[in-house]
Amino acid sequence: MSLFRLDASILPASSASRSLADLVEAEWTASHPDSAVTRRDLAADPVPATAWADAVTGGFVEEAQRTPAQVEARALATTFADELIAADALLFAVPLYNYGVSQHFKTWFDLAYTDPRIDPQGTALRGKPATLVTVLGGNYAPGTPKEGWDHSTGWLRRVLEDVWGLDLRVVQRPFTLVGVNPALDAFADTARELKENAESDAVAFGRELAARRGEVA
Ligand SMILES: Cc1cc2nc3c(=O)[nH]c(=O)nc-3n(C[C@H](O)[C@H](O)[C@H](O)COP(=O)(O)O)c2cc1C
Repeated sequence: MSLFRLDASILPASSASRSLADLVEAEWTASHPDSAVTRRDLAADPVPATAWADAVTGGFVEEAQRTPAQVEARALATTFADELIAADALLFAVPLYNYGVSQHFKTWFDLAYTDPRIDPQGTALRGKPATLVTVLGGNYAPGTPKEGWDHSTGWLRRVLEDVWGLDLRVVQRPFTLVGVNPALDAFADTARELKENAESDAVAFGRELAARRGEVA
């Protein structure tokens, strides 16, 4: 049994997404104490911004005609896809940055998505159990002043759930900047409740992730 875990927080020492992913991982490990965990930390080891274009353009020419950069980028895409395909369950921890998806995650996804096993025609990840942990400094829920400004969570759901076909659960914790940004002090009670809800989801989905392993189509 194996778990693949990806982290995208650029501030690992204080990371709320990492803490929640730790809860998910702990439940997995409690059920599968001897299972391997493959880790990819996109902040510590970012994917080069040029890799995706190299992998795509490398696909338009014969193997012998590829540049060294194109060969390297395609090999990295193969490694990313291998990691996802080999794992029994997947865990992604991805914060909201600048109202959109983490550039580290997008760069990783785009490159992985060039591998034919998991590209638009690929089916290798269909039905694989997965948990997405996502955290937001603010709160963009219906009725809030910036409702709709979270352009990350929806996209993450689309590509993980609909494009790759993962059997996905989502843990979301908004308002992580309450207690950090004094302008948000009035929301302390709401933020505490949202944190507790996210922690309880993380534990429940971690248990479920461990139980769902092996049901891949
Ligand atoms: C450079 C930067 C940009 C951010 N942009 C946003 C944003 O647009 N909206 C938001 O709600 N939070 C934003 N945040 C806050 C993060 O989403 C929040 O701090 C989150 O907890 C970060 O994830 P982590 O705790 O796992 O590191 C930003 C944080 C950083 C460092």
